[in-house]
Amino acid sequence: MAAQNGNSENNGEMVVTPWEVKGKVDYERLIREFGTQPLTPELLGKLETYTDKLHLQIERRIFFSHRDLDTVLNLYEQGKKFVLYTGRGPSGPVHIGHMVPWIFTRHLQEKFQTRLYFQITDDEKFIIDNNSTLAETRKWGYENALDLIALGFKPENTFIIYDVQDMDLLYDIALKVAKRITFSTARSTFGFQDSTNIGWVFWPAIQAVPCFIHKKLTGENVPALIPAAIDQDPYWRVTRDMAQKLGYYKPAQIHCRFLPGLGAGGKMSASMPETSIFTMDPPDVVKKKIWNAFTGGRGTAAEQRKLGADPSVCSIFQYYYYLFEQDSKALAERERRCRAGEMLCGECKRDIVEKLNKFLEEHRERREKAKDTIEEFHIKRK
Ligand code: TRP
Repeated sequence: MAAQNGNSENNGEMVVTPWEVKGKVDYERLIREFGTQPLTPELLGKLETYTDKLHLQIERRIFFSHRDLDTVLNLYEQGKKFVLYTGRGPSGPVHIGHMVPWIFTRHLQEKFQTRLYFQITDDEKFIIDNNSTLAETRKWGYENALDLIALGFKPENTFIIYDVQDMDLLYDIALKVAKRITFSTARSTFGFQDSTNIGWVFWPAIQAVPCFIHKKLTGENVPALIPAAIDQDPYWRVTRDMAQKLGYYKPAQIHCRFLPGLGAGGKMSASMPETSIFTMDPPDVVKKKIWNAFTGGRGTAAEQRKLGADPSVCSIFQYYYYLFEQDSKALAERERRCRAGEMLCGECKRDIVEKLNKFLEEHRERREKAKDTIEEFHIKRK
C-alpha cells in the first residue's frame, strides 16, 4: 500500500483501516470503536425466517456485526425490497479470504431473490498504489470478476460495475455525494495527509455510488445492504451521514471477520503471497504453503501426543472453521482430537490440502466457463 496513510510502526497494536489490517484483531473492540451493532439472537431469528436456515457464516459468527440490518428486515417484512452491494479492489489475484463474504452474498441473493451491485474499483487501486498502472488494475478487474461469477451468482440479478469503464453511470451521483462531504470529515475518517494525492481525497464519493444507483436505473428507492469485511466501515460512515439529505436510505451493513493468513496472526493478505491461497494456485503450491503454515502444534510429535495442541492459535484450524468443515460435529471432533494429541498436524494438513485442492479445481472449472458469460454480468448491458 502507499505510504501516505500508513501506520507502519505499531508494535503489534491492532490497526484496521480500508488500506491496512495489522496486529491481533479484537472484534468486540471494533464493534465499540466503530459504533456498530452485534448480531443479536432476536435479529438472527428474523433473518432465519427468510433464509430457511442460518448460513454457516452466521452460525459461526464469521459475520458478527451490522448497522441497520434490523431496519432492512423490518422494511422487507412490510414489502419493501432491498439490494445487495459489495465490491473488490482489483490489486491482484483473488485469494480464498476474499471469497468468504462473496459466498455469503450469493446466499443472500438466492434467499431474498435480490439484485447485487458489485463494484470493481480499478480506479481506487490505481490512485492509492503508486506502482500500479490502469492497464494492470483493469486486467485484474476482469480476472477477479471471473472468480466472483464462478461462485454461482445469477446473471439476471448481478450487475458488475467496472469503475473506469462505467464512470459515465456513476459520475452524477458521485458529484452529489462529494459535495456533501467536507475535507475535514474525510481527513479525519481516512487519515489524509498533505502528501495524499487529490484523487484519493475524492475517491470515497465513488465507493458510495452503488449504494444509491438502483434508483437511477429503475426508479425504485430501496435500501442497500452491504455484506463486507469490517475494514470498509469508514466508507459507510461518511455515506450514511449524507444519504438521507440526497433522498436515499442509509446503506445498511453486515460485517465479517478476516480469514487469517497461514502465518502466525494477521489476515490473509495478497501482499504476503506465501501465506495466502490464491484461486489459481496449482496443487503443489497449495501443498507447499500448507506445509509451511503456522499451527498450534508442539515442537516434537512425542510432546504433542502427550500434551495435545492448541487449535485456537492454529491457522489451519481456521480454514476448517471458515470454509472447509461445514459439519459442526465433525469440526468439534477434529478440535477434540487435536487438543487430546490424538491427531498430529501432518494428518490435519494432509486433509486440508485435499479439501482445498478439490475446491480450487472445481472453482477453476467454473471460472473458465465464466469467460463465456462475463458480459451478461456487466451493468451496461441491462
Ligand atoms: N474498497 C474496496 C477494496 O479496496 C473495494 C470495494 C468497493 C468494496 N466497494 C465495496 C468492498 C463495497 C466491499 C463493499 O477492496
